[in-house]
Amino acid sequence: MNEHVSLPAADDAATRSNSRKVFIKTYGCQMNVYDSTRMGDALASDGYVTTEDMGEADLILLNTCHIREKAADKVYSALGRLRDMKKARQAQGKELMIGVAGCVAQAEGEEILRRSPAVDVVIGPQTYHRLPDALKQARSGTRVVDTEYAVEDKFEHLPATSKAQIRSRGVTAFLTVQEGCDKFCTFCVVPYTRGSEVSRPVSQIIDEAKRLVDAGVREVTLLGQNVNAWAGEGPDGRNWSLGDLLYKLADIPGLARLRYTTSHPRDMDDKLIEAHRDLRALMPYLHLPVQAGSDRILKAMNRRHTGAEYLRLIERIRAARPDIAMSGDFIVGFPGETDQDFEDTLKIVEEVNYASAFSFKYSTRPGTPGADLTDQVPEEVKTERLERLQALLLKQQADFATSCVGKTIDLLLEKPGRMPGQVIGRSPWLQSVNVDAKTSQIGEIIRVRIIGTGPNSLFAEPAESLMGS
Ligand code: SAH
Ligand code: SF4
Ligand code: F3S
Repeated sequence: MNEHVSLPAADDAATRSNSRKVFIKTYGCQMNVYDSTRMGDALASDGYVTTEDMGEADLILLNTCHIREKAADKVYSALGRLRDMKKARQAQGKELMIGVAGCVAQAEGEEILRRSPAVDVVIGPQTYHRLPDALKQARSGTRVVDTEYAVEDKFEHLPATSKAQIRSRGVTAFLTVQEGCDKFCTFCVVPYTRGSEVSRPVSQIIDEAKRLVDAGVREVTLLGQNVNAWAGEGPDGRNWSLGDLLYKLADIPGLARLRYTTSHPRDMDDKLIEAHRDLRALMPYLHLPVQAGSDRILKAMNRRHTGAEYLRLIERIRAARPDIAMSGDFIVGFPGETDQDFEDTLKIVEEVNYASAFSFKYSTRPGTPGADLTDQVPEEVKTERLERLQALLLKQQADFATSCVGKTIDLLLEKPGRMPGQVIGRSPWLQSVNVDAKTSQIGEIIRVRIIGTGPNSLFAEPAESLMGS
């Protein structure tokens, strides 16, 4: 969450020299990271190449997040800086177009054009396949807002990602299988910015996964705002849930690892839990946000489950896959949260014992039911609660890392490390692991022994028997 990711440029020297260049800045969740890659695809078919150097871009596209006030504010301060850059560029007689995509675009639409005169195009998460058209229109002098939910399926209209482009992005990839949310948690903007739950069809997903694997991808993370609400008709004519889809994807030769995120506790069905028991390719890591521990607050948040139900669910998941690492999201200071409610959050964290987690102060979002609640928690109380919660979660994370020392694990080698001769890989539990290996081995899965922990990563040495890929 909240990582800033700029896409690496595709290594496509032929088109590089005289085509337009786009710099895409991504805020927010993994779904935005995926969308940025697909916007890159849409623009590639329009003659653009992606660049990592904002200074040489002809188009700067901000793919934005609206989840908390701070995330949305970042966009406007970035737009302020871009306005100056555009002016400087225009003074040299050169073009610089500015686009705003993603969830702020969806939520604020016209308001962005009003507040930010430098913006040429505002495009929503469901309409970005029309980006080339919008840019054309903007170039002819009409600023564009395109945030209508498209009737056509954007995935049907997007050009497929080229092999070169997939390769440039590495051996792990995201694949959005589900979008939108019908849950309407009372704090959350996602149902408004992303619309209602839609699942991509099985064949589309399988085709995309195969293309990724053909281009060298070894690990695919299925994405959705509520990924485990994915549903579709299987080739056998039955209604499939995410569990069925995972069994099917696990059969793709060369696809070594599968993950999925983010899940809602209400949608963890038996098939999905069985998939964790049966599928070697399905990594033993599950991000399953609970948000709070108090039943009163869970109810006010409209999470539609109790703390005890969540704990029972985790027990069942751990019975199916004992080595699973749990991850979660938490909000402190939801309106009306008392000291006792907050103690219940700490209690549920103690009971679950998380391997990693994200925690946030409640941020009032205009248009959500939470914004109408009067008993807001004072900022200093939120700060104090967040500090206590994060101290506990960090301790659990560190304890989990320490418990890995001495273990021999499979490591997917992903990218060069900071030191020459080192490669960074990912453990089954999503930890970064540094190991001595050759960069030519990137994409292989090797056996390593964990020998130590660092602040945000682990250290390992190759185990005697190499498994190869
Ligand atoms: N669909 C996912 C999460 C989407 S948003 C789910 O249901 O879990 C990611 C996280 O941001 C949420 O899990 C929540 O912890 C946090 N979040 C969402 N709205 C927020 C708000 N108004 N204030 C603070 N945190 C929020
Ligand atoms: Fe937001 Fe709740 Fe939907 Fe998650 S399930 S996206 S928190 S409304
Ligand atoms: Fe942010 Fe939109 Fe993702 S609001 S968290 S970018 S779905």
